[in-house]
Amino acid sequence: MGLKELETADETACHMKTKPVYWTTGTCAVEIPVPCGLVIFGASGDLTKRKILPAVYRLQKNHLLPEEFFVLGTSRTKMSTDQFREEVLSAVKNAFAKDFDESVWNGLVEKIYYLPIDYTVQETYTQLLKEKLLQLEMKHQTEGNRIFYLAIPPTLYEHVISNLGAAGLSQEERGYTHVVIEKPFGRDLDSARRLNRIVKNCFDEKQVYRIDHFLALETVQNILMLRFANSIFEPLWNRGYIDHIQITASETLGIEQRAGYYEEAGVIRDMFQNHMLQLLALTAMEPPVSFGAEPVRDEKVKVFSSIKPFPMDRLSEHVAIGQYGRGKINQNPVPGYREEKGVSEKSVTATFAAMKVLIDNWRWNGVPYYLRSGKRLSSRRTEISIHFKPVPYLMFSNTLTGPIEPNQLVLRIQPDEGMSLILQTKNPGSEVCLNPISMDFCYQRDVLMDAYGWVLLNCMHDDQLLFVREDGVEQAWSLLTPVIERLESTTSPDQFPNYAAGSSGPEEADLLIKRDGRAWRPL
Ligand code: BG6
Repeated sequence: MGLKELETADETACHMKTKPVYWTTGTCAVEIPVPCGLVIFGASGDLTKRKILPAVYRLQKNHLLPEEFFVLGTSRTKMSTDQFREEVLSAVKNAFAKDFDESVWNGLVEKIYYLPIDYTVQETYTQLLKEKLLQLEMKHQTEGNRIFYLAIPPTLYEHVISNLGAAGLSQEERGYTHVVIEKPFGRDLDSARRLNRIVKNCFDEKQVYRIDHFLALETVQNILMLRFANSIFEPLWNRGYIDHIQITASETLGIEQRAGYYEEAGVIRDMFQNHMLQLLALTAMEPPVSFGAEPVRDEKVKVFSSIKPFPMDRLSEHVAIGQYGRGKINQNPVPGYREEKGVSEKSVTATFAAMKVLIDNWRWNGVPYYLRSGKRLSSRRTEISIHFKPVPYLMFSNTLTGPIEPNQLVLRIQPDEGMSLILQTKNPGSEVCLNPISMDFCYQRDVLMDAYGWVLLNCMHDDQLLFVREDGVEQAWSLLTPVIERLESTTSPDQFPNYAAGSSGPEEADLLIKRDGRAWRPL
């Protein structure tokens, strides 16, 4: 769907005021942000090339960047602005192999710069960076609005944040100053608290944008719209009608080139502390008083604080973990986790986890949330499925042999974005024969903006709704840190591998849900 210019002026009875230009993607208007400069730390890294720069290009393509804008890439790698521009071009061409548009690039390239810096040296910030920033801000008229995007290894967060603070670059003098921090935000509760303290010494919470890119997926943003803009779901969205909820994020990919990070992290840090718990919070939260960053984040935090701590003496009833061995993905043989480059032969790092989470509040008492996520599974799928209770009385019992499959609402996060409602209907032509049908809605793919596009846009719009607040990140860690510590100290090398690449995960995960008389949705 194309983009369309909307009204630029708002004529009212009293006065005529000028509004910023709006553009539409799909049918809704998106406001063009005010002028700003984007400073990327870690500009020669993988994340910048795969996600951030393609997102900048896409925003430019969709006319969603302000005219007064620049990107300043920084990293330890020595290169010139021209070399950096070449690198950006190849990253963008790579990401948009089919529809790269030269004219879009031409409108962007002159706004891209590079500055090699040493992150740990204070003068870098007080002199080099400051000077360059002031010069670019003058040239591109960005009114002092700055975004510092930390796409660097977490070990460098502390240096960069403290140095920005010490150089006075965290202050908001003429315009806004925002800092974007990628995950992982800490590796346990203590380290997350420590990082929050460092951030707080230099930035105010309203300047801090902690990324969880799942929150920025269109289909995740849709969860709240679906729940609270329709009157038919909310009355049923509770323990009276819902039997249980499943949240799945399965991947066919392995760990790619990230053994160093993944060996230290494992699936619970990598997927559960952030993405999975955020999906759970959006599904479980109460309606916020308004659709704003603070009210929504307040409600999410309430969900986290209502989650029952995992019982350490019966942990295996609530958590199952796994690690993939050799197998086949799309008919092609793939190595086991321990055979991946950079992984220890005796690694006890989990690449799969399944959890049963209980929420102790009025709405959800007795309704389990089953979460599972893993690498090298049989399909790539992120979805939330709401499993309703069976009908209370089976009046068709003399004609039906088995139970009626209860209704399900499936929110498909990715791929194949959309949702399905599974209902029972009469099979035509027969007397009483019920047939489950699926009412499907599919998003039109080309109108979906990618998560990183939303991340940048919302950060430019001063909107923290899609970002994680200090208390949210700490609550999530406080729930999972004891689990991680217990598993790390009790898992022995001979327990793994326990599922084959290309399968639906370890048997332990099936048992976890089977014990409650339920089953996972097939992958
Ligand atoms: C990242 C994890 O946060 O999310 C990765 O670090 C994972 O391990 C990825 O593969 C999944 O997100 P997406 O959007 O690629 O499905």
